[in-house]
Amino acid sequence: MPFRLLGNSGLRVPLFSLGGWLTLGGSVKGDPVKEIIKAAWENGINMFDTAESYAGGQSEIEMGRVIKELNFRRSDLIITTKLFWGVRKGPNDTGLSRKHIIEGTRESLQRLGLEYVDVIFAHRADHSVPMEEVVRAFNFVIDKGYALYWGTSEWSAQQIEEAHHVATKLGLIAPIAEQCEHHLLHRDHPEREFAPLYRKYNLGTMVFSPLFGGILTGKYNNGIPDDSRLAVEQEDQFKRKIEFLKSPEGQRQIEIIRKLSDLAEKELGCKMSQLALAWVARNPNTSSVILGASKPEQVRDNLKALEVIPKLTPAVLAKIDDIVGNKPAPWPTYGRLALDPLSKFSVL
Ligand SMILES: NC(=O)c1ccc[n+]([C@@H]2O[C@H](COP(=O)([O-])OP(=O)(O)OC[C@H]3O[C@@H](n4cnc5c(N)ncnc54)[C@H](OP(=O)(O)O)[C@@H]3O)[C@@H](O)[C@H]2O)c1
Ligand SMILES: *[C@@H]1O[C@H](CO)[C@@H](O)[C@H](O)[C@H]1NC(C)=O
Ligand SMILES: *[C@@H]1O[C@H](CO)[C@@H](O)[C@H](O)[C@H]1NC(C)=O
Repeated sequence: MPFRLLGNSGLRVPLFSLGGWLTLGGSVKGDPVKEIIKAAWENGINMFDTAESYAGGQSEIEMGRVIKELNFRRSDLIITTKLFWGVRKGPNDTGLSRKHIIEGTRESLQRLGLEYVDVIFAHRADHSVPMEEVVRAFNFVIDKGYALYWGTSEWSAQQIEEAHHVATKLGLIAPIAEQCEHHLLHRDHPEREFAPLYRKYNLGTMVFSPLFGGILTGKYNNGIPDDSRLAVEQEDQFKRKIEFLKSPEGQRQIEIIRKLSDLAEKELGCKMSQLALAWVARNPNTSSVILGASKPEQVRDNLKALEVIPKLTPAVLAKIDDIVGNKPAPWPTYGRLALDPLSKFSVL
């Protein structure tokens, strides 16, 4: 397993990690959770991601239980959790107020049965809380030893900028990484909007839904398989996704996936899912790609993406860009090159 630095930090994280949304503690409970985490561990994954809200708190509980039962040494693990959505829905039980950041962190640690997590993420930005309060509260959590680092998730470039400015002004610790959606069918936010931040702040991403929830495996190309996420999960968002797949835009995306599946099989000798995962992992701005799995076999199957990364030559990447047709346009330079202030070739 290759390791990379998590954004602007000294923390070395595995290129593939494992997450617990919907699955661990949700659609998967008991011994099968242990089997999935064991499959990940045996294949070099030592970073596990969860959130206070996943499965109403059960994801943290199951993950904590399995970590204990498998007798892992704490320092061998990297555990990340996230705050924002809460477990209860009261006005003080969600969001990024100092109250919820501090109380929420303590409750997460209780559910996990841990003294600290490695990274705590703000699961969304909270427009109702001053940024100074947010930055100070996460710094308190770090100073208390509840978390070693903090990060953001699905924040805009402007919000990440603001957090950095506030942290610099106050001499506090800034977020080290951003947990965001990034895959072949979702590129603008991580690739175009964030482009200025990667070098400026050494931003690194911890990528979620790299398979677009399973759609990029190709398994939805001919309808909804009975045991798949879209068939199993009951929340409205999944019903909307089924409707989306039937819409002209959904069908257009399925057609793209058919073409990509062809390229994967015929030119790279791999599965569509492995191509999709390798494509995100090969991006140097990606620190870690979080896998989701409802079965241990999926973890093992997905990690074969590591062998596909070297096959993604510039020529293959260009073919992929042609098929997906969504490569973000670079920011215009108006003929003024070397806008990057850190480049030694900067033209002044
Ligand atoms: N920060 C955030 O807001 C946020 C949001 C979403 C996720 N996340 C994190 O990112 C993690 C991963 O997200 P995700 O679960 O959406 O990732 P994903 O990789 O896009 O989807 C994973 C799902 O795809 C299916 N799948 C995976 N491998 C497969 C294979 N080889 N063959 C067939 N089906 C396969 C499985 O679902 P089925 O078998 O059930 O079909 C699996 O649960 C989460 O667990 C969570 O930790 C964070
Ligand atoms: C926080 O909100 C809840 C409602 O969900 C309320 O019961 C509780 O008293 C509030 N706590 C404080 C300290 O305001
Ligand atoms: C990574 O970020 C740098 C700096 O913003 C950018 O120039 C580069 O294109 C990015 N790489 C990819 C593959 O998106």
